[in-house]
Amino acid sequence: MSSALVLVALVACAALASALSSAPEQIHLAITGNPGERIVSWVTMAQTNASYVQYGNSLAALTQQANSDETAYVTALNGTRTIYLHDALLVGLTVNTRYYYRVGNAVSGWSAVYDFDTKIDVPNTPVDIIVYGDMGSTNSDRTISKLKSELAGGFSSLILHTGDFAYDLHDHDGIVGDEFMNMIQPVAAYVPYMVCVGNHEYDGRNFSQYQNRFAAVGRYSQSGTNNNLYYSFNVNYVHFTIFSSELYYSDDTAVIAEQYAWLQKDLAQAVANRDKQPWIIAVAHRPIYCSNVDDVPDCTKDVLVMRDGPYSLDNLFAQYKVDMFIGAHEHSYELTWPVSHSMYQLFPNPNVYVNPLYTVNIVAGSAGCKEDLDYYDKIYYGPWSNFRSASYGYAHLIAYNHTHLYWAQKLNEGDQGVNELWMIKGNATEVADHAHNFGYAPSPMRSDACEEYCFVACVGNAVRNGQSTQEAHASCGATCNCVDRVAAGQAELIGTDVRVELGRVTRH
Ligand SMILES: [Fe+2]
Repeated sequence: MSSALVLVALVACAALASALSSAPEQIHLAITGNPGERIVSWVTMAQTNASYVQYGNSLAALTQQANSDETAYVTALNGTRTIYLHDALLVGLTVNTRYYYRVGNAVSGWSAVYDFDTKIDVPNTPVDIIVYGDMGSTNSDRTISKLKSELAGGFSSLILHTGDFAYDLHDHDGIVGDEFMNMIQPVAAYVPYMVCVGNHEYDGRNFSQYQNRFAAVGRYSQSGTNNNLYYSFNVNYVHFTIFSSELYYSDDTAVIAEQYAWLQKDLAQAVANRDKQPWIIAVAHRPIYCSNVDDVPDCTKDVLVMRDGPYSLDNLFAQYKVDMFIGAHEHSYELTWPVSHSMYQLFPNPNVYVNPLYTVNIVAGSAGCKEDLDYYDKIYYGPWSNFRSASYGYAHLIAYNHTHLYWAQKLNEGDQGVNELWMIKGNATEVADHAHNFGYAPSPMRSDACEEYCFVACVGNAVRNGQSTQEAHASCGATCNCVDRVAAGQAELIGTDVRVELGRVTRH
């Protein structure tokens, strides 16, 4: 081969390599909270200078085009690796409509064509949201495969990942992050993928991987915070307030104070808008109530930092009557009774909370991940705990209307089936309608449930006060007679706080 031909071949190879490395990957969607808007994000390994989203209402007519921002992001601590992040904002979309789109440009090439719909943008319609945390890029196909099946079955609304993404996004200079984002692409390219930061996003650079890869949800958020550590968005009947539990474990108290001030402002605004978004749901990675016994001090000391510290979330949630707080971090599932400041409320039917007084706390950290499951003790758990399962799974959160919110945690291994919760806010007629429409009539107080939870709290306190276990069982057996409560058919406030530490009941 002549030297001229070799040169041509080398140039051709270089051009091909360049074109390949500019191919769009890691494509994912998000919402801003404003109906008719979608964020489209993707990554290229090489700079493109100009990239676009082309979209339209049919596969054959991608007639509209939106420009993307392009940000060079150094993924390696030593500065040796850079990827290019692209974010485009689509505006003016018609609600209840299917859109087709592709990303890229004519020089570097276009992605495949994906699609999404704007059904959740239709005002006053039920919205179905898939929720999970702690998924990772390994041991996660158990969930990813099910999400693909959900999409194949017609699910098209929204996914919320409550922290701990790739284990870890920054590993191997960010290559693990790239793998994770490509792993979720078959789902996240079709359904908005909303996010919350977790401890595994700590990368020694102020959560840089998370902050950059998901920057657009903060930049374009309704809340205008221009960061994704704390931001908020509305989706139909729900106001989501997303924040960072990780700031609570920072030495910099100024950042905690700054976030807390924002939380107060955001929740005050949400309360003012409650006629439109009746359900206020706070989301962070770490829980403030949990019963796991294998990760001490997660559920003993660590929860108190957020719950009872100077920037108390219990105070915040009580003040603004937050309906639900979703956390993860524990690789398991737990549902509490409505609880605040360790006071909790029981209901006749453990799957139906009618006009709850306090915030319902949920741990939803069982999507997978390489660290396996976290476990519970059969006897010792928080008395405010309604249901616990060390089982992989994820949840559907459905806001039906102003009066009915539904949570269903799928238990895919170990415990099988679904743990359901209805939250009902309304007058007697609306509550009665529930029985008619959904088939969950509020039933009489289950005496075994009442006695069980009363008993755990009572024994804990008695032992703490110096009684032997035998004495405690005898005295509490008499105290926890729930016949009167069954007759009343009402929720009861009982108990003080009992937490679990290595099998010993302690009180804080
Ligand atoms: Fe975590």
